[in-house]
Amino acid sequence: MAEFTLPKNSRVLKGKTHHAPAGVKNIRRFEIYRWDPETGENPRIDVYELDAEHCGAMVLDAIIKIKNEIDSTLTFRRSCREGVCGSCAMNIDGKNTLACTKSLDSLPDTVRIFPLPHAQVVKDLVPDLNHLFAQYASIKPWIETQTPPPADRERLQSRDDRAKLDGLYDCILCFCCSASCPSYWWNSERYLGPAVLLQAYRWLNDSRDENTGERLDELEDPFKLYRCHTIMNCTDTCPKSLNPAKAIAEIKKLLLQRQEG
Ligand code: SF4
Ligand code: SF4
Ligand code: FES
Repeated sequence: MAEFTLPKNSRVLKGKTHHAPAGVKNIRRFEIYRWDPETGENPRIDVYELDAEHCGAMVLDAIIKIKNEIDSTLTFRRSCREGVCGSCAMNIDGKNTLACTKSLDSLPDTVRIFPLPHAQVVKDLVPDLNHLFAQYASIKPWIETQTPPPADRERLQSRDDRAKLDGLYDCILCFCCSASCPSYWWNSERYLGPAVLLQAYRWLNDSRDENTGERLDELEDPFKLYRCHTIMNCTDTCPKSLNPAKAIAEIKKLLLQRQEG
């Protein structure tokens, strides 16, 4: 297999190549971003060759195998291994997605793996999500009410009202979408980005919530909401097939309806 080359001015170094044992016929090659802040060195790309005959089906299986059998220092997040927790989000073959649901069969023989782009890196494939979660907390992701709850039961929803949350409640906060959004790359201090705005719409759209006016007031801001230019990277990349761009458009529609009054 051909050795990879880095762009001319890259500050990323060429790291170590871990060759497959002699005699392995079906080699799968992984070029993986490595950075350890404690070394003070520039990031590097390490290469790992795996015996594809003895590897699970998903990218996460491959990187767990690398960590267990070749290089225990490789650092990444994962938990559920079935597309539910959102913790294994990374950039695989140029696209933000979940390592646990991305099949190796859908990828070329050489797989390039980077952390989610435009986020500070904690180590290797682990992005710093503190800012994103602070933005998430800012939209108050819980039901807010003015009226007291019924004395004898929960606040109920009709089936139709419950159905309005489909495609919204299923967001797993992996942040693949926000990390793929050019507007978010350039304005992440002030623009909330697609993941958080999809969540904002989820609470605006909940029939039990009684704080719609205040939620809309908070979002009516040239940066928080209106930095979305409908580029659609978010919807294209979402590993759960959700549509954050549509949710953002729906928020804009609610604001317009309110203005028209
Ligand atoms: S549609 Fe909006 S949120 Fe989605 S990628 Fe484009 S600018 Fe970002
Ligand atoms: S909308 Fe999709 S890509 Fe964005 S955080 Fe939710 S699940 Fe992840
Ligand atoms: S490990 Fe939970 S989504 Fe991948």
